[in-house]
Amino acid sequence: MTYLRVTTYLFVGTCRHDRGGKRLHRRATSEKQSKPEKTTVNDTNSAASATVLGLGEMGRALARAFLADGRTTTVWNRTAAKADELVARGAVRAATVGEAVAASPVVVVCVLDYPTVHELLDPLAETLSGRVVVNLTTGTPAQARETAEWAARHGITYLDGGIMATPDMIAQPGSLLLYSGSRTAFDEHRALLDLLGESRFHGEDAGLASLHDLALLSAMYSMFAGFLHATALVGTEGVQATEFAPTVVGWLTALAPILPEFAKVIDSGDYASEVQNVNFTKSAIDSIVRVSRDQGIAVDVPGVVQKLLDQQVAEGHGESGSTRIYEGIRHPA
Ligand SMILES: NC(=O)c1ccc[n+]([C@@H]2O[C@H](COP(=O)([O-])OP(=O)(O)OC[C@H]3O[C@@H](n4cnc5c(N)ncnc54)[C@H](OP(=O)(O)O)[C@@H]3O)[C@@H](O)[C@H]2O)c1
Repeated sequence: MTYLRVTTYLFVGTCRHDRGGKRLHRRATSEKQSKPEKTTVNDTNSAASATVLGLGEMGRALARAFLADGRTTTVWNRTAAKADELVARGAVRAATVGEAVAASPVVVVCVLDYPTVHELLDPLAETLSGRVVVNLTTGTPAQARETAEWAARHGITYLDGGIMATPDMIAQPGSLLLYSGSRTAFDEHRALLDLLGESRFHGEDAGLASLHDLALLSAMYSMFAGFLHATALVGTEGVQATEFAPTVVGWLTALAPILPEFAKVIDSGDYASEVQNVNFTKSAIDSIVRVSRDQGIAVDVPGVVQKLLDQQVAEGHGESGSTRIYEGIRHPA
């Protein structure tokens, strides 16, 4: 999966860091000593240990964060060579998934998708019983809930998670991880989870972390699409993307604080008080679509917004605040 890798470029310069300066030796912090594990697994070093299944770009970053804190970290990956750098940092290489799962009370899974999660874990349900699975693989709420039900049937404590960070950002300021599922697992293993970034719990419905994850990604992709359309538009007159991008960053950054104001209007359901109404915004979007056609570029991106505004006008809401297109999205005809 590469969807967030593109954002690496946005964060370069602020988030890259020298991992060489981090401690690689094992140690037990006072925090760990004061928060003993309460799993049923008989592991004398359970407070410190974790297994990471899946050592792609993200899985390796997660394992590095555990190792940097001195956690005993057992790792497994289908392509074994990807574990080499981690083993050099002190990780324990497991020869099989079963060996990896049996090594720790907490099993962090970060693979391509949920079918892969099940391919790996389903045959090991018995070994996993009494352990905690933290699944940081991207998926839908339905997949998360179905996996939580599978886990519950087998006595496995399940925490689903969504990573709002690129691999470079893990363990750095700005890294946010969303969790839902077992509150007990979240609380008991908070110190471990916090090594990866800010940990935010969204409730015991296992699907909620992924719902928030995908919602945030939808905001990101829509913003990226807006940038690409704008860049294509100025590109028709020979403006380089690199020349234009800083202006877009400044513009969007200046506008971002308006979102909580939109949110208040949405929550109130009262769209009458907004300054910028549907008719006004529609006139701007119509101009954007027109100039895009005039310049010979595709109109798909502004076309989506135009369609939503047209719908509001057709339903008689032209004088309402333009945030009312939320209603068209939330309650499609
Ligand atoms: N990268 C990001 O910026 C980012 C951000 C947030 C969330 N995530 C999520 O994190 C997860 C992993 O992403 P990634 O960036 O680490 O992806 P990646 O570099 O492509 O790694 C994919 C991982 O899945 C494993 N895998 C794929 N199919 C498998 C199979 N059939 N059996 C066993 N293992 C299999 C791969 O093993 P091999 O090495 O053997 O191929 C590898 O460990 C994804 O769900 C992704 O959406 C990624």
